[in-house]
Amino acid sequence: MEKIVSLCKRRGFIFQSSEIYGGCGGVWDYGPLGAELKRNLRTAWWNTMTREREDVLGLDASILMNPAIWKASGHVDTFADLMRECSLTNKRVRADHVDPQAGTVLSYTGAQSPTGWRWDRAISALLKNGEHIESFRKRIRTLIAQNAGAAAGKPEEIELLGETKGETLEKTVDFHPETGGALGEARPFNLMLKTYLGPTATEDDVTYLRPETAQAIFAQFKNVFDSSRVKVPFGIGQIGKAFRNEVTPKNFTFRSREFEQMELEFFIKPDEAVEIISGEVAKWSEGADLSEPQPNWGWEMWHRYWVDQRTKFYEGIGLGDVLEYYWQTPEDLAHYARACVDILCEFPFGTEELEGIAARGDFDLSAHQNASTKSQEIFDEELKNAAVKLTDEQKEALIQKRLAAEAAKVKGEPMPEAAVRAWFERLFKGNYVPHVIEPSAGLDRMALAVIAKAFSETEKTDEKGKKETITVLRLHPRVAPIKVGVFPLLKNKPELVAKAREVYALLKKHMNCFYDETASIGRRYARQDEVGTPFGVTIDFDTLGEKGPELLDTVTLRHRDSNEQERVKISDLLGKLLPLVS
Ligand code: GAP
Repeated sequence: MEKIVSLCKRRGFIFQSSEIYGGCGGVWDYGPLGAELKRNLRTAWWNTMTREREDVLGLDASILMNPAIWKASGHVDTFADLMRECSLTNKRVRADHVDPQAGTVLSYTGAQSPTGWRWDRAISALLKNGEHIESFRKRIRTLIAQNAGAAAGKPEEIELLGETKGETLEKTVDFHPETGGALGEARPFNLMLKTYLGPTATEDDVTYLRPETAQAIFAQFKNVFDSSRVKVPFGIGQIGKAFRNEVTPKNFTFRSREFEQMELEFFIKPDEAVEIISGEVAKWSEGADLSEPQPNWGWEMWHRYWVDQRTKFYEGIGLGDVLEYYWQTPEDLAHYARACVDILCEFPFGTEELEGIAARGDFDLSAHQNASTKSQEIFDEELKNAAVKLTDEQKEALIQKRLAAEAAKVKGEPMPEAAVRAWFERLFKGNYVPHVIEPSAGLDRMALAVIAKAFSETEKTDEKGKKETITVLRLHPRVAPIKVGVFPLLKNKPELVAKAREVYALLKKHMNCFYDETASIGRRYARQDEVGTPFGVTIDFDTLGEKGPELLDTVTLRHRDSNEQERVKISDLLGKLLPLVS
């Protein structure tokens, strides 16, 4: 990971935000190559998920929204991590991010200093196995001095009072991983970043930077539906910034406080509506055909379909062979969720979530319908026409089936019978709040995943026998920030340079290219390999026709991964490269 972080900085992919002022925790800036890489990933997602489909529309909503949205969605009350606070320093850590430690507990009754400052409170900290007692005490004094401020005076003059040795522990998670101070009880900590909207900056003006892009899609569902002549099933996709006050941002950009999400809310009919229209709801089984959506698909087939679609997307950007899937168990699932799968990816620090795909029922739209009192129902003509043909017995059978499902619910309150009957009454008239499947991906994680997957090192021996470690970023051509390096063989031959400039001008209208005439050709290839450029074009004397007319206006096209070189006519170059990079 260190090598990847270093490469990202050295070659302009990712920089620490506000670095000249010591950084800003959990936020990152993308340099010239990172910006291109992210843009390519964003475009790949947008094209695959919206442009190339007939059933998905795009949205670009604001980051700031009416705070009522976050109340209705449950974020104000429940979007929290459990945190524990260090009793020495008040530093917080996520309760589930404390790795087990081994050591001996040392306790003090308090501390005092010659300045007259006194701390009359019990202190407990972990002397880690292998740590010298004196360096431990020095550390505790320093931490206390930092916490107490100027009043405590110099750390070395602080006296720790009433030291006692306690238990020796093998795998404790009760001490702060950095400070060693005892951790307090786990308490929920809301992850939303608060801000004020309006000039008075009072509590009445509080709103939040959105912690996900999804809620704006729900809040605009009716506007998109009414303005776009679409029918359920259809989706709304959005790409944009999201903000979370992560307690412990870590692993480079993997868990950041400002990041970008790419989310699709795909709205579907409730299974009961599918059954009324199609006479059945297709059941998923291993090997089921997911290639083309079918009218008899309920939430389960749609959910599987989107897992399959998203997997294909990842294959298309070179991540196919590093994916794993975690299907959440009924215990993991939120009470409203029917299923959720985490698409995991191999990172240098472990296998972690890249994207979540959840079947969320009608929870979100119904929550906004209740809170805003604005109907989120749609009218489905096909459903109404099919329901008219049902007998009373058939209708009652559907109601009884739903009541049995409600009674068998493992989590959450079953819907009361009167509410179920009222819901069916609306359904038989063609009205319902759509259900949703939500594939939700993180752009920054995706960028990190492709860089990590592409990173490789090889050892090379040069002509003088000197060994050198060469870094090659084997980025998929579709996502690579620079698609082609253009190189005149020599920079002091005006004819070569002029031809190379011509080729560069031809290509750069269509793809991001890099022109380089400095250093040896091998060095220039190596520089491009390090930033993942998949192709190199060299203009040499053959291009000028010096070896005969058959090679006139041809160039050497080098392929980064195979190191193969082929001779290509300049007039064929664009046609050859475009399909490979887009
Ligand atoms: N609307 C659903 C939702 O937001 P999530 O699992 O919290 O679900 C979806 O987030 C995706 O957003 C994650 O799979 C991850 O790729 C990305 N993501 C979430 N928190 C992140 C963070 N702190 N830093 C970077 N990416 C994050």
